[in-house]
Amino acid sequence: MPDILEELEARRDHAREGGGQKRIDAQHAKGKLTARERIEVLLDEGSFEEFGMFVAHRSTDFGMEKQKYPGDGVITGWGTINGRMVYVFSQDFTVLGGSLSETHAEKICKVMDMAIKNGAPIIGLNDSGGARIQEGVAALGGYAEVFQRNILASGVIPQISVIMGPCAGGAVYSPAITDFIFMVKDSSYMFVTGPDVVKTVTNEIVTAEELGGASTHTSKSSVADGAFENDMEALMEVRRLVDFLPLNNRKKPPVRPHFDDPDRIEDSLDTLVPENPNMPYDMAELIHKLADEGDFYEIQKDYAKNILTGFIRLEGRPIGVVANQPMVLAGCLDIAASRKAARFVRFCDAFEIPVLTLVDVPGFLPGTAQEYNGIIKHGAKLLFAYGEATVPKVTVITRKAYGGAYDVMASKHLRGDFNYAWPTAEIAVMGAKGAVEIIHRADLGDADKIAAHTKDYEDRFANPFVAAERGFIDEVIMPRNTRKRIARAFASLRSKELANPWKKHDNIPL
Ligand code: HXC
Repeated sequence: MPDILEELEARRDHAREGGGQKRIDAQHAKGKLTARERIEVLLDEGSFEEFGMFVAHRSTDFGMEKQKYPGDGVITGWGTINGRMVYVFSQDFTVLGGSLSETHAEKICKVMDMAIKNGAPIIGLNDSGGARIQEGVAALGGYAEVFQRNILASGVIPQISVIMGPCAGGAVYSPAITDFIFMVKDSSYMFVTGPDVVKTVTNEIVTAEELGGASTHTSKSSVADGAFENDMEALMEVRRLVDFLPLNNRKKPPVRPHFDDPDRIEDSLDTLVPENPNMPYDMAELIHKLADEGDFYEIQKDYAKNILTGFIRLEGRPIGVVANQPMVLAGCLDIAASRKAARFVRFCDAFEIPVLTLVDVPGFLPGTAQEYNGIIKHGAKLLFAYGEATVPKVTVITRKAYGGAYDVMASKHLRGDFNYAWPTAEIAVMGAKGAVEIIHRADLGDADKIAAHTKDYEDRFANPFVAAERGFIDEVIMPRNTRKRIARAFASLRSKELANPWKKHDNIPL
């Protein structure tokens, strides 16, 4: 008996060595943690339960029968994050470059199936040279099996991908389907075709980092949701993110103990909006002042900065926030902002996270670039996302709410539950200047008349009361009381029930 126990220990030790000390050292030399070290950082101490430590590939082509490593390049299992269950897979670059074989894929599929069955998030730590070249089509089939599970899990359990090394070719499509992608700066990249192929096909000379590094994907392509300095930081941020999310689409998001008075008055908010309607102010300041303990977990903070998206807590409960940012492009909606916010709203709705919308929007961004690239279709995504969402929706208009953008930003007409406005709100078809130029075109040569018309228009529409008269605004609230008002609004909506008509699925303008 002791011999058998020793053998088990010896086999385990061997499996834990991955591709051997030399390759582990090489991994460390690149500033990267190993697959097992990453799991240790990600999960609560001692909580990891491994599956398939001894799984080996079955390939015999190209001398592969001599290159077997227990675990086959991916470590899989489950554990907890702050006591809540998650499933995880972590690709081991020290074993055949973390490449994906048929059995490697089977291991990933197994934990994905368990995550779906048991209703817990799946977190993938990606560090792989792609399909195992020696296996050919078997590896391709393995990827497709993973993709299929990503698709079925979408909207059922939260799926998070962390890119911590190479992720190229078709391999990118598994993370692409997941809810959130985090990347590590300078050591990770994602692209469909690498710099060499790019050079051959398009003559462009570009580095891997420029083509698909963390800053490219968080600021240009929007493929990734966050870029972090190193493995440690990225993994700690995943822990923070998981704390905002429910385990699955049938569970409520977790409630944290909270010490911040929900009735807290913020006098400074009474002067947040400048007197001059053309002056910007920082919407992030409002979000921080509304949030429990000032904690705002921003998603896609480097992309489409004219709209802010992320999570806060009110009375300890997660709330998704979407807010126009007047500091960038005057807070207008463009293609990038519409796509960013639409995806975020859909995530929140899928996982029962209520949505707070803070509105200061002068309209959609004009121009050929926007029209040629389909602002109509992309803007419709945000409209659609808000309109189909059945989660509690609370909206506060702080200043401008003009034109179609007023409708889009979680207006009463899109089933907003509480639509509040600050006294500084201006709700109209367009700004006074533009309106007067159209409806009083005949007077354009007469400055006095135009000034009088402009004042008339402002008196009539540069306020929240016309909309409030119609019930489009439920209440005009004091800015300083906003935290209290929205906390009470969300509290009153905790047992909200609303369902859309039966359908196989919708046909959102993609
Ligand atoms: C098998 C692989 C491998 C792969 C790397 N290795 N990629 N083995 N299949 N796909 C092995 C190497 O042979 C090496 O083994 C070890 O992993 C480390 O690789 P290095 O090249 O030494 O590391 P590095 O210099 O850091 O370069 C990493 C790399 C490079 C950029 C990822 O290895 C590379 O270009 N690999 C091939 C990438 C690729 O073309 N993959 C297929 C993509 S297509 P030793 O024994 O020396 O340690 C794809 C299709 C998916 O994935 C389709 C889904 C639908």
